[in-house]
Amino acid sequence: MKISNRFIIYLILIICCSTGCLLVESRDQSLPDNDPVLCQQRIQREDCPVSPAPFEPVDDTNVIQVYYLQAPIFEGMFGNFFGKLGGYHSAVGFYDLTTGLNYTAEYDAFYEVGNGTVPNIVYVNGTKDILWCNSGIVCAVPFVNATYWDPAVYSTASKTYMATIDGATFNKYSQWMVTYNNSNPIYQTWDVWNNYNQELYIQSSTCDDFADASFAFLNSVGVQYNCSTIVKRDYVNIYSQKPVLVDYDVHKLDIISFYEVFDFRTHSFLEVLKKLVSMIGLKKYLYIQGEYYLLELNFPFIGLKYDFAPLPGCYN
Ligand SMILES: *[C@@H]1O[C@H](CO)[C@@H](O)[C@H](O)[C@H]1NC(C)=O
Ligand SMILES: *[C@@H]1O[C@H](CO)[C@@H](O)[C@H](O)[C@H]1NC(C)=O
Ligand SMILES: *[C@@H]1O[C@H](CO)[C@@H](O)[C@H](O)[C@H]1NC(C)=O
Ligand SMILES: *[C@@H]1O[C@H](CO)[C@@H](O)[C@H](O)[C@H]1NC(C)=O
Ligand SMILES: *[C@@H]1O[C@H](CO)[C@@H](O)[C@H](O)[C@H]1NC(C)=O
Ligand SMILES: *[C@@H]1O[C@H](CO)[C@@H](O)[C@H](O)[C@H]1NC(C)=O
Repeated sequence: MKISNRFIIYLILIICCSTGCLLVESRDQSLPDNDPVLCQQRIQREDCPVSPAPFEPVDDTNVIQVYYLQAPIFEGMFGNFFGKLGGYHSAVGFYDLTTGLNYTAEYDAFYEVGNGTVPNIVYVNGTKDILWCNSGIVCAVPFVNATYWDPAVYSTASKTYMATIDGATFNKYSQWMVTYNNSNPIYQTWDVWNNYNQELYIQSSTCDDFADASFAFLNSVGVQYNCSTIVKRDYVNIYSQKPVLVDYDVHKLDIISFYEVFDFRTHSFLEVLKKLVSMIGLKKYLYIQGEYYLLELNFPFIGLKYDFAPLPGCYN
C-alpha cells in the first residue's frame, strides 16, 4: 500500500519533470526549522527558562566550587523504548561558598530530546513534509536542584567535584556560556563514527558536549583539574561510512520514509518494532546544520556508550 503510494508519487514527479511543473512548484522543505508557532514544548522544562540569561555577576574574590552533575534522563530519547536503555543528563553546578548561592548551567534540546533527534512528519497542503524542532539551548538557573542531582534520591545520579574557582573566573564563564548558546543553536544527538574511537565524522551537540566544553573553557582560563578525577559521559553513536551530502529535493521521499520509522510519538511499541524491521531496506539519513546526509551504516549501526571524557590539561 505504502509502496504503491510512493510509486504513484514518483510517477507524478516524473510527469512533472517532463512537463516542467517542478519549476512552478518548489519541492523544498517548506517549513522553517524551529518555527516557534509550529514547534511546541509539550513539557514546560522546569529547569530551563524560556529566555536564559547570563548569571548575575559576582565579586571577583568569591570562592566557588565547580561540580559535574549527572542524573538519569527520565524523558528518555525516542519515547520510553530507547529511554529504557539508560542515559544521563549532565550539567555543571556552581556552589558559591562566599554568598551561599548555587548555579546550574546546562544545554538541552529546547523541544525535548525526541524532537532534537527526529523531525515531525506533517502535511503541508496535502503533501507530507518535514518539520524540525531541533533547537538547542543553554539553560542557566541561579540554583541547583538538590533533589534531581542527588545520588541519595536517584541511585544513578552523581556529583563530581571538579575544581574551586574565584568569582572573576565565574563571571568569565557566565559570558562564555552565552557565546556557546549563540554558536550552538542546533541540538545534535549523534556522534557519527566509522568505528568507535576511530574516525569521527560528525560531533554531537548535547548536554555532555556542553559540560565538556565548559571544563575546557575553565581550563583555558587557568583552572586545573585533579587528573585522577573520573568523568564519564554518554556517547550516542552511529557507525557509518563517510556521510554523503545529498539534495533534499532529490531525496525527499526517501528522507520522509526514513524518518517516519522513528515517529515513536504516534506509534505503539509493536508498530515501532515492525517499522524498525522495515527500516532495514531503507536509505538512512542524518540532518546536520540544515543539510541532509546519506549514511551507509557499519555494524553494529548504532550504540549508546557510557565512557570516559578526557579532562582538559590531563592528556599527557
Ligand atoms: C515535539 O514537537 C511537536 C511539534 O511541535 C510538539 O507537538 C511536541 O509537543 C514536541 N514534543 C515535546 C516533548 O516538546
Ligand atoms: C540562546 O540562544 C537562543 C537561540 O538559539 C536565543 O533564543 C536565546 O535568546 C539565547 N540566550 C541568550 C542569553 O543569549
Ligand atoms: C546551595 O547548596 C548547598 C549545598 O547543597 C546548600 O546547603 C545550600 O542551602 C544551597 N543554597 C541555596 C541558596 O539554596
Ligand atoms: C499552501 O497553499 C497555499 C495556497 O496555494 C499557499 O499560499 C501556501 O504558501 C502553501 N503553503 C506552503 C507551506 O507551501
Ligand atoms: C527538582 O527536581 C525534581 C526531581 O526531578 C523535580 O520534581 C522538581 O520539580 C525540580 N524542582 C525545580 C525547582 O526545578
Ligand atoms: C586527586 O584525586 C584523587 C582521587 O580522588 C585523590 O586521592 C587525591 O588526593 C586528589 N589530589 C589532590 C591534589 O586533590
